[in-house]
Amino acid sequence: MTYDTMKRVIFLSFKIGPLNIENKVVLAPMAGVSNSPFRILARRHGAGLVFAEMVSDKGLIYQNAKTIKLLFMTTEERPLAQQIFGSNLDTMVEAATYIDTHSNCDVIDINMGCPVPKVALRAQAGASLMKNPDLIESIVKAVVSSVSKPVTVKIRSGWDEKTINAVEVAKRIEAAGASAITVHARTRAQGYGGKANLDIIREVKQHVTIPVIGNGDVLDGPSAKHMLDYTGCDAVMVGRAALGNPWIFQEINQYLKDGTMLERPSHTDIRHTMIEHLEALIKLKGEHIAILEMRSHGPWYLKGIEHASKLRRTLTQTKTKEDFIRHLDDFFRA
Ligand SMILES: Cc1cc2nc3c(=O)[nH]c(=O)nc-3n(C[C@H](O)[C@H](O)[C@H](O)COP(=O)(O)O)c2cc1C
Repeated sequence: MTYDTMKRVIFLSFKIGPLNIENKVVLAPMAGVSNSPFRILARRHGAGLVFAEMVSDKGLIYQNAKTIKLLFMTTEERPLAQQIFGSNLDTMVEAATYIDTHSNCDVIDINMGCPVPKVALRAQAGASLMKNPDLIESIVKAVVSSVSKPVTVKIRSGWDEKTINAVEVAKRIEAAGASAITVHARTRAQGYGGKANLDIIREVKQHVTIPVIGNGDVLDGPSAKHMLDYTGCDAVMVGRAALGNPWIFQEINQYLKDGTMLERPSHTDIRHTMIEHLEALIKLKGEHIAILEMRSHGPWYLKGIEHASKLRRTLTQTKTKEDFIRHLDDFFRA
């Protein structure tokens, strides 16, 4: 490797504790989406690190079968961060310790950003924790000292626009020993609407020394580069723009390397990846559940493809693998 290539590789990678992440593009945790088959596709197409969807601390402790199944992962997905949510110090420590010893994940991430009522209101977890920096600090400190894997935290800008406190919270998280922090630059009140406020990520980056992963509205190479340049963050996390679009990771990597935009995947690639995704889901969850999940993924893969609206509708009603593939073939071979 020449010195220049080495410099570029180092510049385009980042670290979480002792863990080297080979590039700056990370797959977001997305409940119901970021499972093993989806993470494999993201890694194959260039994600440097993938986050698994959140699991509940209580679900782990009570050995809820559904929760335990969510921990399934393969070596191919690593490096992988497993996210947990909860709001009670003791159960969070117990859950993190369980993951530390029973999962091959590389990082344990704590969710402090989820806005959905079941998590943020009923369980007082997720984004609700943003209202209680003292509790945040004690949970992170207790978890860090109980596990051997690096611990990271994913936060929002704040609870609402009147209580934006990401900088204060980030400082407390760093003081508690976390190895990195992800900032989704929206408040809980914003949900997923409005625009992410990059100034918040920038301010957090200026106030902590641990790596900061910026999140919110990364759609392509230029928006990823803009987030990195404007905020100084160490990596970007991609959520919704990866739905039906695992190619986004290589596109961003390429753009960050030399400013070139890769061509969009061909119809053959899209068809092939959709079937690969379906087959991996069937292997993991059986045909019935896999088809139900592909009813969402299918239309996402077809976004932006001309004349695909009828196929999109049809895919939301398919019942079997055979039907699913036949509909794809009718369209792509036409
Ligand atoms: C379907 C869906 C499920 C999500 N589930 C989680 C989750 O389990 N944990 C979490 O921290 N964030 C979750 N998020 C939030 C994303 O990780 C990310 O912060 C958010 O989508 C903003 O990034 P984006 O603008 O790139 O989509 C979810 C988002 C979506 C759309």
